[in-house]
Amino acid sequence: MVRAQLPSLLLFCFYGLSHGAYEPTWASLDSRPLPGWYDGAKVGIFLHWGVFSVPSFGSEWFWSHWQAAHSPKYVEFMEKNYRPGFTYADFAPEFTAEFFEPEEWASVFNASGARYVVLTSKHHEGFTLWPSRYSWNWNSLDVGPKRDLVGDLAKALRSKTPGIHFGLYHSLYEWFHPLYLQDKKNNFTTNDFVVTKTMPELYELVNTYEPEVIWSDGDWDAHDTYWNSTGFLAWLFNDSPVKDTVVVNDRWGRGIPCHHGSYYTCTDHYNPGVLQPHKWENCMTLDKHSWGYRRNAHATDYISIHQLITELAQTISCGGNVLVNVGPTHDGRLPPIMEERLRQLGSWLDVNGEAVYDSVPWKHQNDTVAPGVWGLPRRGDLVYGIALSWPKDSLMTLVRSYQHHTPHITMWDTMRTTAGAEYKATRSGMQIVFPPMAEVKSQWAWVLVMAGVTPAST
Ligand SMILES: *[C@@H]1O[C@H](CO)[C@@H](O)[C@H](O)[C@H]1NC(C)=O
Ligand SMILES: *[C@@H]1O[C@H](CO)[C@@H](O)[C@H](O)[C@H]1NC(C)=O
Ligand SMILES: *[C@@H]1O[C@H](CO)[C@@H](O)[C@H](O)[C@H]1NC(C)=O
Ligand SMILES: *[C@@H]1O[C@H](CO)[C@@H](O)[C@H](O)[C@H]1NC(C)=O
Repeated sequence: MVRAQLPSLLLFCFYGLSHGAYEPTWASLDSRPLPGWYDGAKVGIFLHWGVFSVPSFGSEWFWSHWQAAHSPKYVEFMEKNYRPGFTYADFAPEFTAEFFEPEEWASVFNASGARYVVLTSKHHEGFTLWPSRYSWNWNSLDVGPKRDLVGDLAKALRSKTPGIHFGLYHSLYEWFHPLYLQDKKNNFTTNDFVVTKTMPELYELVNTYEPEVIWSDGDWDAHDTYWNSTGFLAWLFNDSPVKDTVVVNDRWGRGIPCHHGSYYTCTDHYNPGVLQPHKWENCMTLDKHSWGYRRNAHATDYISIHQLITELAQTISCGGNVLVNVGPTHDGRLPPIMEERLRQLGSWLDVNGEAVYDSVPWKHQNDTVAPGVWGLPRRGDLVYGIALSWPKDSLMTLVRSYQHHTPHITMWDTMRTTAGAEYKATRSGMQIVFPPMAEVKSQWAWVLVMAGVTPAST
């Protein structure tokens, strides 16, 4: 009897969970637990690629700066370098991507230690990097590369580096789409653009490529009710092919960022410096001035590997993930200086990833007297401190953790070869003697592994 009833009970539970569990309201959508892979991943790569990668001048907002804002820098650039009457659409055939080797990209991303990748499937210019049925003659199969760039990258990542989750950025609005401009003129009392363009293309993207991140953007002009965001998300979480693993950001309509979504991005480069109650992401750029590639960038326009590791340490200490942006070129290359940063990050994570992946924040996020020490994320009974500079005379004092019972402090990367860092308790705090520098493998930042310490109340 009991045995016979069990299957129908299981079936009932299954059905109850998988169908219609989430209502199209923020209260219901926000109750969905964050899929486990995302928090532990910590490091992702953002790719801004599109027709804007052809002029590769100023930023990915090129078209808007040139023809909406009429910014002199862009107007002059066009007058000086292009024939009169040249339109933005004329750039598209030059988006050639002849050197795009998705498997090569996958191997660089893997070498960076990233656990997810987010590609701009469509930026505000409206050009789709996949053959969308809703973007006639303004997509990468009809014009330019003559390839399904989204599909090719998804396939390469999934076959070559299955540990990396594939995600897609998607802009809700398009600067110059006539239906969007019409809806806007109607104060968003009509939604022809959403019904005939935005929604169909989002469903098409999810059903075709099954992205595990949807990084929405371009939401700010209109409310979420105009975009039908909650309607789409209820379908995504209840019935889509990625309903169990997908995570979404927070840019789903005016007033929504920083309030609703699987995780918060709030503003670009968001890095609050204090522990956050909700999962968040710091989307940041290697080029300090642009998300899209700029041909005329100088080496000093790129952040150093030390700055990148600093962002990472601050971010994970406060409960966030970093999404490190790279701007590929029109011909499909990852610029060498960006590739180098990614490989440097990977070489550091190779040694110190233990302190990063799957860590959770500790009671304190930084030390007040050793300003270089960020981190202190916790894993089991261990506390990891990321020292961003080598202390004077190799002697570092920490006041925000104190030893008890049998403290044990080790520098992570020398653990197997030396006795590790020595420590002693002093009145001013815990004093740590760093090992000889020649014995450590890491450059740029060093991880202290502390066992038997508790948070000081300061
Ligand atoms: C990906 O990175 C891991 C860890 O560094 C490495 O073991 C693996 O061989 C890499 N895979 C590829 C395909 O590069
Ligand atoms: C939109 O709102 C503005 C300001 O409230 C108003 O002047 C205008 O008439 C409205 N337009 C439409 C089409 O409703
Ligand atoms: C909003 O999305 C829901 C769920 O996909 C759909 O049933 C509904 O028709 C959409 N409404 C509009 C106005 O697009
Ligand atoms: C370190 O932590 C303290 C106390 O939480 C905080 O006031 C301070 O701003 C932090 N330091 C930095 C550099 O953010």
